[in-house]
Amino acid sequence: MKRFLDLADFSREDVLELIALAQRLEAHPEPSALAGKILGLIFFNPSLRTLASFQVGMQRLGGSSFVITPGQGTWQLETRLGAVMDGAAAEHVREGLPVLASYADAIGIRAFAEGKDLQDDVSEARFSAMAEVIDKPLINMESAVNHPCQALADWKTLEELAVPARGKFVLSWAYHPRITPLAVPAATLHMAAQRGMEVVVARPDGFALPQEIMDKAHAAAAASGGSVSETSDRHAALKGAQVLYAKEWGCTAPYGDAAADAAQRAQFKDWQVNESWFSHSAEECKFMHCLPVRRNVAVADHVLDGPRSVVLQQAHNRLPAQMAVLHRLLARSASTY
Ligand code: CP
Repeated sequence: MKRFLDLADFSREDVLELIALAQRLEAHPEPSALAGKILGLIFFNPSLRTLASFQVGMQRLGGSSFVITPGQGTWQLETRLGAVMDGAAAEHVREGLPVLASYADAIGIRAFAEGKDLQDDVSEARFSAMAEVIDKPLINMESAVNHPCQALADWKTLEELAVPARGKFVLSWAYHPRITPLAVPAATLHMAAQRGMEVVVARPDGFALPQEIMDKAHAAAAASGGSVSETSDRHAALKGAQVLYAKEWGCTAPYGDAAADAAQRAQFKDWQVNESWFSHSAEECKFMHCLPVRRNVAVADHVLDGPRSVVLQQAHNRLPAQMAVLHRLLARSASTY
């Protein structure tokens, strides 16, 4: 494996192999597997889980890491191609990133969407421009419309919970007072479709996921024997659901208009997950969320603290899932896929 940028780059069997490796590394740690290897972690945006779990994962495998948060103790990095750099950024990623890559054996980048132009964000223009100048193994730690590390951890969680591969998986929009990225909903949708599940996206009008993301999920479902549909009727969506995965995301019609987004989302404060959402789900329906989550805004306390919630298991699984990715990218015996 040379890069881990998108679960869609891997077959269903490849993903299941990665999950098996994650399980093996949990049961049988390999404290010297990455001895002498160095991972450079570049965070253009904040993190708790990704930041901690990648550093811990490298250490547990015998390697080490360094963290760069551009503009905080380092030069601010310009990401726009063709920019006239007369502002705050003293260095462009076209110099900064190859320099950092030359010090490391692998690089991870977190760079969220710019949130202005939907096509630019859906095409991953910003992340791709950075990936282009890095000649080392590269990990997507969350880009404009992808979060493959979260998706891999979530798939592992579904396997541990023995959620049937053909089970009903509802990805639901949840209320949040601010615009939040499309990365997790897009990655989650694709993951569940690639797993072969009956996936329903429940979202209010104005918050439909971009057509390119839906089309990609439809293609994954066609290949795996699953299905994908969408609705604004969350009650109908949740009927018989075995998993409710809640996520907040920004308005897509219009996209990048803060005032219009705020006006739209203000109508949907009742999209706060509470136990009544599960009244017609399967009795054993699990509740998932990638975290961070705003309690009693997006999700009620009693759901997060109740028996359906597996959010801490999901967050824990970031560590072994990413250790498997690092092992595949950097261990001497690395597989070639
Ligand atoms: N879910 C997730 O990526 O968490 P962080 O933003 O804290 O890394």
